Amino acid sequence: MAKVLVLNGPNLNLLGTREPDVYGSVTLDQINGSLTDLAKELGVTLDFFQSNQEGQLIDRIHQAMNEVDGILFNPGAFTHYSIALRDALSAVKIPCVEVHLSNIHSREEFRKVSVLAPVCVGQISGFGVLSYMLGLRAVAENIKK
Ligand code: DQA
Repeated sequence: MAKVLVLNGPNLNLLGTREPDVYGSVTLDQINGSLTDLAKELGVTLDFFQSNQEGQLIDRIHQAMNEVDGILFNPGAFTHYSIALRDALSAVKIPCVEVHLSNIHSREEFRKVSVLAPVCVGQISGFGVLSYMLGLRAVAENIKK
């Protein structure tokens, strides 16, 4: 069965209590639970990893090489400036879908730029928890191709 790595970057461990007006009140555990249900429907298995540290995310992406068929990634604030994460995704060549709860294009100027998007299959932004669900569907479809 195809395997998808669900990656979450900094501050996403605080979902549920963090700025609920922007990010909603659902916790990361609840999102991961919903993704697990959807994964069964889609016939894929999931691995989960969240870190507030760039290096740990890079190490996890390297580890995924030859192990994982797709990545679903909410890189948090690293989206906007981590060339190191972009290089890691380019290096392993695992198809990645970037997701955001909020619409990063309707917020501050600095959030409108994603340095990761050009090395991802695509980006889904602004649908709250649904962004993750749509993102997993996109990863699964991409694996089938
Ligand atoms: C986010 C958007 C980022 O700009 C922000 O730094 C986050 C969350 C989102 O899911 O909307 O941490 O990735």
